[in-house]
Amino acid sequence: MNNKSRRILVDIANHPYEVVIAAEGLNRIGTELNNAGINSGIKVLVVTNPDVAKPYSNQFLESLKQSGYRTSLLVLEAGENQKNQNSIARIHDAAYSTKLERGSLMIALGGGVIGDMTGFAAATWLRGISIVQVPTTLLSMVDASIGGKTGVNHTKGKNLIGAFHQPKLVLIDPSTLQTLPEREFHAGMAEVIKYGVICDPQLFSILEEIKQLNNLYQMELGILEEIIGRSVSSKAKIVSEDEYENGRRAILNYGHTFGHAIETLCGYGKWLHGEAVAMGMVAAGELALVRGNWTQNESDRQKLLLTKFGLPTKWPRLNIDDIISTLKGDKKVQNETIRFILPTEIGKAKIFSDVTHEEIKECLKRLS
Ligand code: NAD
Ligand code: GLY
Repeated sequence: MNNKSRRILVDIANHPYEVVIAAEGLNRIGTELNNAGINSGIKVLVVTNPDVAKPYSNQFLESLKQSGYRTSLLVLEAGENQKNQNSIARIHDAAYSTKLERGSLMIALGGGVIGDMTGFAAATWLRGISIVQVPTTLLSMVDASIGGKTGVNHTKGKNLIGAFHQPKLVLIDPSTLQTLPEREFHAGMAEVIKYGVICDPQLFSILEEIKQLNNLYQMELGILEEIIGRSVSSKAKIVSEDEYENGRRAILNYGHTFGHAIETLCGYGKWLHGEAVAMGMVAAGELALVRGNWTQNESDRQKLLLTKFGLPTKWPRLNIDDIISTLKGDKKVQNETIRFILPTEIGKAKIFSDVTHEEIKECLKRLS
């Protein structure tokens, strides 16, 4: 990509914004904020964690300062188990002590955990101030940073507390992936494969054609940029059509219904979110198979692709009744009916509200 950048519009009514994918993006944050119409001179609170602060915060703050922004930095601890209301209180404390005003800005510099929490803190500080997302994991680049879902976990369920709060800008610098641990890189591939299954059969084929890699860093930069770009475009298109998930946006939750149950029952942080989603995709594929919605061949192709990118496909030991009761606590439950996103072919998925308990039990038995 060198000095080139790719710009993808999230065309949401009343508050459209761009996702900018740019090599050297971190050094361009000040310029990109200006391009997005965010005035220099305002106060900016950057929220991050030590894994990201160490390699990137100096250059990032420097770029902001050079463009005239008044910066402060909050470094929270890393991890899914930090995604709770205590962390939100810490961000609000920092907002108070740095005297953030209505016209100030928060920037999330990190993965999905930092992004979701900072977005929620911004949504609730002074009844809502601006947020910019600068994702540094593959998963947050292709999914979490786009679309305005923000929030934290409740002890009884993932992401139960939150708000929609769209960013003013998403800035992706793929070179930050160089420091990302391999396991996290794999987890991000789960969301990439998800787009292939639900809406982009060509992406699925591109992924199938990539030769077996010893590690994901061997992936050619051009291919990596292509799969990030395609994934961002899919997400941008879907959320532009349905900002508040009244309909089609729910297909983005493919793999998440079973995935959230795994994360909740096994303890937050044990399975990475992307790993749980991968396993959830296998489970949703099995359920689609039980119901005759897709074929054994499609289910096998999905499993093969997940395995190729180092993702788990073996269901953990869990009590079936516990799983069903956790599924019933999911956000997607309506009138006590669990809604499932199931594939109907590679590249297409639909929302189903008529899945019976017998079908769920049969699916879980086949997975166990
Ligand atoms: P994460 O934010 O926990 O990041 C993973 C790990 O990588 C952390 O330890 C982090 O410190 C480290 N890290 C981040 N960037 C790094 C870098 N460049 N170099 C080195 N280390 C780095 O996990 P994630 O997978 O990015 O996000 C998962 C979260 O995102 C979950 O809480 C999930 O619920 C949420 N999510 C939200 C949405 C949404 O639409 N809002 C969508 C998908 C997932
Ligand atoms: N990650 C699902 C969504 O943004 O709707």
